Amino acid sequence: MKLFDVYPLFDITVNHGKGTRVFDEKGTEYLDLYGGHAVISIGHSHPRYLQAMQEQAAKLVFYSNSVKNPLQVRLAEKLGKISGYDDYQLFLINSGAEANENALKLASFATGKKKVIAFSHAFHGRTSGAVRVTDNPKIQAPFNLSTPVTFLPLNDIEAVRRELSGGDVAAVIIEGISGVGGIHIPDTTFMQQLQTETHKAGAKLILDEIQSGYGRSGKFFAHQYYGIRPDLITVAKGIANGYPFAGVLISPDFTPVYGQLGTTFGGNHLGCALACTVLDIIRDENLVENAARMGEYLMQGLKGMNIPGLKELRGRGLMIGIEFEGSMKEIRQRLLYEQHVFTGAAGTSTLRLLPPLCLTQADCDLFLDRFNKALH
Ligand SMILES: Cc1ncc(COP(=O)(O)O)c(C=O)c1O
Repeated sequence: MKLFDVYPLFDITVNHGKGTRVFDEKGTEYLDLYGGHAVISIGHSHPRYLQAMQEQAAKLVFYSNSVKNPLQVRLAEKLGKISGYDDYQLFLINSGAEANENALKLASFATGKKKVIAFSHAFHGRTSGAVRVTDNPKIQAPFNLSTPVTFLPLNDIEAVRRELSGGDVAAVIIEGISGVGGIHIPDTTFMQQLQTETHKAGAKLILDEIQSGYGRSGKFFAHQYYGIRPDLITVAKGIANGYPFAGVLISPDFTPVYGQLGTTFGGNHLGCALACTVLDIIRDENLVENAARMGEYLMQGLKGMNIPGLKELRGRGLMIGIEFEGSMKEIRQRLLYEQHVFTGAAGTSTLRLLPPLCLTQADCDLFLDRFNKALH
């Protein structure tokens, strides 16, 4: 059998990782400023994470959601405490798309409505509802198009007001900081007005924090820069440092109904043990504060550099976009193949930095030096 060939691949085999580095099968070391697409939060192969994995796997990897699982309760308590959402409820699934899918369903169940407002260049995943609210017709199959969705420009509150005025909107979904769209930070006043207007219209506000959450922005959630409290918050990526795991944080206004949501693998024992350990490490190693400090350090370093063809630098914490006037493809290739640095991309012109949150100042200096070499 052949693999279904949907991924354009770099000619590199990543064989193992340690902290902020990954290594190929020949032992060549790469600086990881990509984190496997913002997934590696605490760093590769963290000893406490490996220990938790071994201990839990030796006890129980999985049992179904038909029995009590104290690890889920422990995770909910830890996540509530560290994020400031103690009073919210947690539903666990396996991927970011599933998190958004369930958040959209909850908003629709609660309001009895089906229309959704999403934003230009948004990315929310590839399952049916999640891809429908993703602003990219190329990845939407005809089958996905039945839900009514309106895409509006970011920061245009008048357009939101107009769209909400019909009274038929179930949910407004927005990323804390747009990731795949190229690291665009919404205006604070826009986000505050968005919350007010959404609630006035009886709709639910969903914050997709799958990429921008879990400390990456320098606060636990990027939306905490705006001083808002969304009805539903979705998390995935860094939550279990590479083990497929995700969640929806659900406001106390929602009443759970037996059987309304469900999943086989979501909330499994191994995933919960890993997610608890990730939160302990984030707390003990001050990784949210580190993301804020290292992000600022990187940004200052980038601002001080001569970057030919630079259009704009954007970002918060360890979520940074370097947009070029033209294509950045060659620079990204040079970074990878000549300088041994992994970076991400958004479209053809924006280089995205999404490193593990344990990035050090020495890592930042090394990146700045190698980036400089790749540019000149
Ligand atoms: C903001 C955002 N939402 C949702 C998703 C989808 O997550 P997953 O690939 O785990 O389904 C992603 C993935 O890149 C994302 O960046």
